Amino acid sequence: MSEAMDNKITYLGIPKKILAICGSTRRTSTNLSLINAIAKLFSDNLQWKLFTGLSDIPHFNPDLDNDHPPDNVSLFRKALMDADGVLICTPEYAMGVPGTLKNAIDWTVSSMEFSHKPLALITASTAGHKGHQSLMETLRIIESDIPDTSQLLISHIKTKLNGEEITDVNTLKQVRSLIQSLIITIEKKDARLTAPDEV
Ligand SMILES: Cc1cc2nc3c(=O)[nH]c(=O)nc-3n(C[C@H](O)[C@H](O)[C@H](O)COP(=O)(O)O)c2cc1C
Repeated sequence: MSEAMDNKITYLGIPKKILAICGSTRRTSTNLSLINAIAKLFSDNLQWKLFTGLSDIPHFNPDLDNDHPPDNVSLFRKALMDADGVLICTPEYAMGVPGTLKNAIDWTVSSMEFSHKPLALITASTAGHKGHQSLMETLRIIESDIPDTSQLLISHIKTKLNGEEITDVNTLKQVRSLIQSLIITIEKKDARLTAPDEV
C-alpha cells in the first residue's frame, strides 16, 4: 500500500465523534501535541473534541456521587456520553496514572459512561510501562471497549515528536493502526446496535 493510501481510512458514513482526553494538564504537554498531531492526521474521517476540564473536576468523594453530582462532573460525563469513541493520551507519573486523570475516571465508575465505550489508550512518556498497565486494568474493569490493538505505549516520546508532528516513522505507523482499530471498534458497536434482534 502506498504511503498516501496508508494515510487514509475510507470511511463511509457520518464522521464519528471522538473525545480526546489528555492526562497531562501541562500547557506545553507532549501528550497534547500528540493528540493534535493525531487529530490533524485523521481530520477527514473523524470529528475531534478535546476535553479540557480535568483540573476542574473535584476530588472524588462517594458521598457526592449521587443524583446531583458537581457540575464539572456532569460536564465530563456528558462529554463521554456524546462521543462515539474516546482517545486517552497520558504520561506516567511516579510509576502510575496521573492523579487528575484517575480522579476523573473514578467519577464514572458508578455512572458507567465508559462501559462499552470504544476507547483507545496511548501512554506517551519517558518510560510509561507501569502507568500504562495500571490504566489498562482500570479501563477494562470499567468495561470500556478496548481491544489490544487499541492500546499503545510510546516510551521516549520527546524524541518522537517535533511540535505537532510525529517524526518517528514506526510511531506514526503504530498510531495509524491504533486509530484504525478504534474506528473498527466503533463500527462494530454501531453494527451491533442496528442489527435486528434475532428471533
Ligand atoms: C511528577 C512527575 C513524575 C514523573 N514520573 C514519571 C514516571 O514514573 N515514568 C515516566 O516514564 N515518566 C515520568 N515523568 C516524566 C513524564 O512522563 C514526561 O516528562 C512526559 O513527557 C510528560 O508528559 P507531558 O509532556 O504530556 O506533560 C514524570 C514527570 C513528572 C512531572
